[in-house]
Amino acid sequence: MRAVDIITRKRDKEELSPEEIRFMIENFTKGSVPDYQMSAFAMAVLLNGMSHGEITAMTLAMAASGDQLDLSEFGGRVVDKHSTGGVGDKTTFIVAPIAAACGLPVGKMSGRGLGFSGGTIDKLESIPGIKTNLSTEEFIQQLRDYKIVLTGQSADLAPADGKLYALRDVTGTVQSIPLIASSVMSKKIASGADSIVLDVKVGRGAFMKTLDDARELANVMVAIGKLSGRKVIALLSQMDQPLGHAVGNALELKEAIAMLRGTGPEDLHTHCVDLAAYMLILGHAAQNLDEARNMAQKAIDDGSAWARFREMVKVQGGDISFVDEPMKLPESKFVYSIFADKDGYIKTVDAREVGESSVMIGAGRAKKDDQIDLAVGIMVYVKVGGKICKGDLMFEVHVNRKSDFDLVFEKLKSAVEICVEPVDPPPCFWDVIGVN
Ligand code: URA
Repeated sequence: MRAVDIITRKRDKEELSPEEIRFMIENFTKGSVPDYQMSAFAMAVLLNGMSHGEITAMTLAMAASGDQLDLSEFGGRVVDKHSTGGVGDKTTFIVAPIAAACGLPVGKMSGRGLGFSGGTIDKLESIPGIKTNLSTEEFIQQLRDYKIVLTGQSADLAPADGKLYALRDVTGTVQSIPLIASSVMSKKIASGADSIVLDVKVGRGAFMKTLDDARELANVMVAIGKLSGRKVIALLSQMDQPLGHAVGNALELKEAIAMLRGTGPEDLHTHCVDLAAYMLILGHAAQNLDEARNMAQKAIDDGSAWARFREMVKVQGGDISFVDEPMKLPESKFVYSIFADKDGYIKTVDAREVGESSVMIGAGRAKKDDQIDLAVGIMVYVKVGGKICKGDLMFEVHVNRKSDFDLVFEKLKSAVEICVEPVDPPPCFWDVIGVN
């Protein structure tokens, strides 16, 4: 078999066999399929799609590219969640500790920034010293001892996804149902959780722009999860506007810390309580949604979720003083403000424009080995449905160079549409898939 023939067949819209897909993934992991061939393959998949059989084969091959954790010693209760990528999505830092505080073991493998969407692992690395590439042994030991783990890919766990994810980020090959489904589910299968709550984002700031596409992605992932013996639920969630206020690595971590300590934006709060509630239901810690929501809220109110987050940071080597005093987290040199130039109601806050702006000022990568700037980002103070007056603060732009603010000023201003008629705020979630 030769990689070039497989790429050509996908380019010509042919269906690949599981052996061909395994060949690509195994050899890419070993390094004998180089980045340029894998990038061409990813582009062919993006343009021509994959059948459900091909997506399943790709997912299983990527999950098998490293160790696959056996977490049976935890009695089938390990829960995980995963987002398909959005703008301002810092929910993992909040829901993982909530679920752990409610008694469930939470073992989670997360990703880095992808395209205009931020990544949990980049955000976590705002904390000096924190280890984000745990080995298989470290993952299991931490889950045993502390019931909460948050790591990125290592050489051990789904390395094929780690490599492909970094390539997709910089080759225009993010927005593809087969590539997202296999990326998400390979990590989930490799990291061994019994139950998985998928947060499938829909809208301007998501990779799925329409509810139909999001539904298709959710259905594929739920089916792959079930095939692998996992309990999976997918929430279709609104991502037309950024989630919460903060967009950017350290800024998002600070907002998550504030939320865990009991103060945070309402949309983020509602979103996290519901996500955590579904994790509690899947993990059999609660019988129904009301009970689960109450438990999640209590874990925030009584400080137990915050305690679990602190403990996780500490055991993964992070300097705990940076989460206790978030002012110590990376801060930019300059903060510029953008104000509204008329009165009215907020009709749109385009999450895509905000996400792209954050990448342009350094919060994301343009090339695979680019260093991101953890301190920069955007605080978004407008929400769809809100009333606004001329002169009100809409954005704060945190930059390390004045010229970066000039670069995004117009883009951010035009991301907000103000109209005269009142506008209904959008719901947090559109649907739930996989409940039976
Ligand atoms: N999250 C992932 O892990 N992979 C994707 O491709 C998109 C979001």
